[in-house]
Amino acid sequence: MAKKEKAKLIVGGRELELDVIVGSEGERAIDISRLRSETGYITLDEGFMNTGSCTSDITFINGEEGVLRYRGYSIEDLCEHSTFTEVSYLLLHNRLPNLEQRENFSRLLNEHSLLHEDMRHFYNNFPHDAHPMNILGTMVNAMSSFYPNVDLLSMRDNIDMTAARLLSKIRTIACYAYKKTMGHPIVYPQKDFKYCENFLRMMFWSPVNNYELDADRVRALSVLLVLHADHEQNCSTSTVRLVGSAHANLYASISAGISALWGPLHGGANQAVIDMLEKIHRQGGDIKKFIAKAKDKKSSFRLSGFGHRVYKNYDPRAKIIKKMCSRVLEDEAEHQPLLDIALRLEEAVLQDEYFISRKLYPNVDFYSGLVYMALGFPTNMFTVLFAIGRMPGWIAHWKEMIQNPKAKIGRPRQIYTGSRQRDYVPIQQRS
Ligand code: SDX
Repeated sequence: MAKKEKAKLIVGGRELELDVIVGSEGERAIDISRLRSETGYITLDEGFMNTGSCTSDITFINGEEGVLRYRGYSIEDLCEHSTFTEVSYLLLHNRLPNLEQRENFSRLLNEHSLLHEDMRHFYNNFPHDAHPMNILGTMVNAMSSFYPNVDLLSMRDNIDMTAARLLSKIRTIACYAYKKTMGHPIVYPQKDFKYCENFLRMMFWSPVNNYELDADRVRALSVLLVLHADHEQNCSTSTVRLVGSAHANLYASISAGISALWGPLHGGANQAVIDMLEKIHRQGGDIKKFIAKAKDKKSSFRLSGFGHRVYKNYDPRAKIIKKMCSRVLEDEAEHQPLLDIALRLEEAVLQDEYFISRKLYPNVDFYSGLVYMALGFPTNMFTVLFAIGRMPGWIAHWKEMIQNPKAKIGRPRQIYTGSRQRDYVPIQQRS
């Protein structure tokens, strides 16, 4: 039996020996679960830059080498050979489905693709220009009223059906939101269409536009959703796990994750990238001015789509999407100028000492918006597409946490830096 690795900590004048946890890919963590009880000290790590919140079997990232694997399968292999439905099954069940399992899962998704008809009335009460991420978070939270049995035991026993419900209905909710903002009649899902086919058809078919499905576009959408399907303990997934750790139901936990993803530092960046590229285009394509502003510490401006907490190398997802960009955009002349600006911006950034020294590379959001545009999606739907892609990852992490007998409610500590004790002063005596 290999000797357990230990770490020694000298603190408060005493030496403490702590266990070292070694992951299946050789990652190491110091187990500090005894630290406070034995020394009275806690650790402090703003933004959890160095702090693991859990062990997980779902996704592995090597940020230095730009490696991403779901349940051990490389993102490159899955994009080449798999589909979003199959990858969702893999993330949820830790194995690729056989033919029968894949057909059953696909049928389950179809069975749950309709939204409760009463939920349609919600859309009439949002302002016409409500952001679809706001609608998405609200509608997913409302699902716990329309699909009850949300107590933990029922959730745990029916997780596969609830997962299928969320995976399928999130797409319907998104399409209804888009149709509502367009003032168009909603389009119902069709039984014989696969996941991405139904998605594109619900988005772009109308009584006066007999939208034809194009195999390349269906494939491009499936690959984009696969690329977003999970990313270990990112901000929104950590939010889903934290809310779920209080035994809040899955719908409420996912709704919280949707809210976190909306932030422009996180999933909202794909929309911010296009807004940035369009602004550069409108101002004559001068990327130097924007790069200078991003480097100026007096400015809060950042180049959206660059930098990553974990990847200190090129985001492997951005590599795949960049290649897809050139293919999907080749017959889309109107978006070519934005792709040209993006390519020039990347080239300039990768040669600039400021970005090189901080290991800032394009991330998943830098090119994804250009492909979404070429598929016909409006920019305010880009983060919604990110959420639809991330749904299987969020559910897989919630399920892993809920099924872990050692899981506890998440409740970080703090170091208090406020006022020492003060006596109460009656209002008449206050200055
Ligand atoms: C996603 O975590 C995940 O896995 C997320 C995600 C997923 O799949 O779930 O991958 C999806 O959220 C991708 C990231 C999308 N966000 C953006 O593109 C927004 C722009 N990028 C950033 O604001 C930033 O890079 C973050 C938020 C992504 C990461 O921030 P960190 O890890 O907290 O790094 P930091 O803010 O401490 O930056 C380190 C340095 C700073 O400069 P110094 O103080 O050292 O001088 O790099 C600078 C930053 O100012 N910097 C940038 C920059 N990103 C970091 N400078 C200019 N432009 C940028 N984009």
